[in-house]
Amino acid sequence: MKILVTGGSGYKGSVLIPALLNDGHEIVNVDNQWFGHYLPEDPKLANLKIDIRDTEKIPLDDIESIIHLANIANDPAVELNPTLSWEVNVLAGQQLMDKAKRKGVKQFVFASSGSVYGIKNEPNVTEDLPLLPISVYNKTKMVAERVFLSYKHNMQVHCIRPATVCGLSPRMRLDVSVNMLTFQALKNGVINVFGGKQIRPNIHIQDMVRVYKHFLNNPKIDSGSYNAGFENISILDIAELVKKYVDCEINITESNDPRSYRQDSNKLLETGFSQKYKVEDAIKEIIEEFNKGQLIEKENFYTVKWMKNLGLNSF
Ligand SMILES: NC(=O)c1ccc[n+]([C@@H]2O[C@H](COP(=O)([O-])OP(=O)(O)OC[C@H]3O[C@@H](n4cnc5c(N)ncnc54)[C@H](O)[C@@H]3O)[C@@H](O)[C@H]2O)c1
Repeated sequence: MKILVTGGSGYKGSVLIPALLNDGHEIVNVDNQWFGHYLPEDPKLANLKIDIRDTEKIPLDDIESIIHLANIANDPAVELNPTLSWEVNVLAGQQLMDKAKRKGVKQFVFASSGSVYGIKNEPNVTEDLPLLPISVYNKTKMVAERVFLSYKHNMQVHCIRPATVCGLSPRMRLDVSVNMLTFQALKNGVINVFGGKQIRPNIHIQDMVRVYKHFLNNPKIDSGSYNAGFENISILDIAELVKKYVDCEINITESNDPRSYRQDSNKLLETGFSQKYKVEDAIKEIIEEFNKGQLIEKENFYTVKWMKNLGLNSF
């Protein structure tokens, strides 16, 4: 199948695209390569350095499915330049979707976010709960989902709401919780935890890739939004898991970030998906890579710092 991936040079895409190539798919990757480019040369892969806001440059001929990852991808990065974030995360997405409809694309899979729910006290955060996003990033995801789902009579639309992703990627992110805490322990021998009691769901990057493949392989799954998060554990739990494998201190300081939420992914499980990897696997893989000398800290592994370096902030 010929698939368009947007944002395929990022953290998730750099693991997803090799997996799709391995399955025999033909891939067009559209990414402006803000964080670099780590994908292999492959006759079945076209890497196009294009901004998704330049909709007319995005080739959609013969594309059956789109996996749309290209967004400004976390709360603080969006705050750097909210106007840019609305343009990329919502307006460009809508233009792409509209072109996809005209070109007869059959399926659109969107990387939304589990953070669209805001703070929830319910023990099981399911897809039918109202969305009360608390950041601009969350709001762009909520609005984009609504725009994309308004096309569900033209094609299958799957909005995936992942938990925080963890694990290794060639375009590494050291600003996501499990990766960050593990790397702190390895580099400094100390893990700094703010508060620590906030519960957050997690998903291993290999399971994230498996979720996208699941929807590509089962395009008839009903259009709609699907949670994808499996281990609801506290930041302190993650730190303790790291401490099992790395000799380190855990330093707890007060936090003013109250966010705690637990994702319930039964709707996804009922479509036939099952979790295979755990947070602990990600921790062990990061430690192994570090000990082999193959995980070397780089500035572009920190999204906000790097976007400021690129001058993408509006202040
Ligand atoms: N990593 C997570 O924990 C997580 C969790 C939930 C949802 N998501 C979502 O998944 C998607 C991918 O996340 P990621 O962690 O791989 O982030 P990432 O920042 O590593 O990847 C995003 C990619 O999109 C590209 N991009 C951004 N704006 C672009 C534009 N205007 N034109 C072309 N390319 C552009 C960037 O260059 C980058 O390669 C994002 O939409 C993110 O919001 C990520």
